Amino acid sequence: MKRKDILGLYDLSAEEIDEILTTGLSMKKLLRQNIKKLPHLQGKSVTTLFYENSTRTRCSFELAAKYMGAHVVNIAAESSSVKKGETLVDTGKTLDAMKNDVIVIRHPMGGAPRLLANTVKAHVVNAGDGMNEHPSQALLDMLTMRENFGKIEGLKVAILGDIRHSRVAKSNLFGLKKLGAEVTMYAPRTLIPTDIEKLGAKVCSSREEAAEGADVVMGLRIQLERQHGGLFPSLGEYARFYGVNDEVMKHAKKGALVMHPGPVNRGVELTSTLIDGDTSRIEEQVLSGIAVRMAMLFLLTKEEI
Ligand code: CP
Repeated sequence: MKRKDILGLYDLSAEEIDEILTTGLSMKKLLRQNIKKLPHLQGKSVTTLFYENSTRTRCSFELAAKYMGAHVVNIAAESSSVKKGETLVDTGKTLDAMKNDVIVIRHPMGGAPRLLANTVKAHVVNAGDGMNEHPSQALLDMLTMRENFGKIEGLKVAILGDIRHSRVAKSNLFGLKKLGAEVTMYAPRTLIPTDIEKLGAKVCSSREEAAEGADVVMGLRIQLERQHGGLFPSLGEYARFYGVNDEVMKHAKKGALVMHPGPVNRGVELTSTLIDGDTSRIEEQVLSGIAVRMAMLFLLTKEEI
């Protein structure tokens, strides 16, 4: 990989995505053998800079870096000098001055990782920016699909949930389309962004239509923290009329996989039976998350080692 930063799947070529997935699959094999001491990032420093809450993404970037021998520093904006008024750019320059090599940033404003990347020497990895992109999540989703099906090309992936506020939906759409998958979507009209079809998604008129013949059905979290009310009546009604349940899954291919980026609102986007069932890959997605983030960090920095 010849790029300095990973800011979104809109920017990456199919070849770059394929390289990350292939490397990620090798990393996942090592993790399955419980190998957690690798030399790939020895002598490197990685800082996670999170202006929004996270469990999966922050922990898995930290573990990915540590398993490959990096020094890791975690900064939560709440307990940093950001609270004293320091700007994002000045925070980045401070980390550069400390000889930090990679900044993994999550920020509520779309575009913040790009601003940082344009002003620091360190590699910048977007760990989710507002409603824009969440590239490592989409890459781990695609890694899980590729491991289960052997390929992405020709798969049909149905995405149901809060698409309007979802950076995961956009990154998956960009990545899946580049690798030759078909993407269908369904949500209340208020939770579908205008023009998403221009980006390559097929917007369906029912959850059954979206799931018809799907290899993968992905639920997305209802992002209550980004909503200001009035987009749907109640969580109970959302679950009843828009959630994924056994009846919806009957329209997908036999044995179709159930996925969700997490955190899940249990019983809202997906029923508990599906979350905990045999076709669920939600826990496997978490392991894919460490593997794909190991691949991203290694491929960004390997020319310098
Ligand atoms: N999927 C995801 O981004 O989860 P976290 O918010 O816990 O990182």
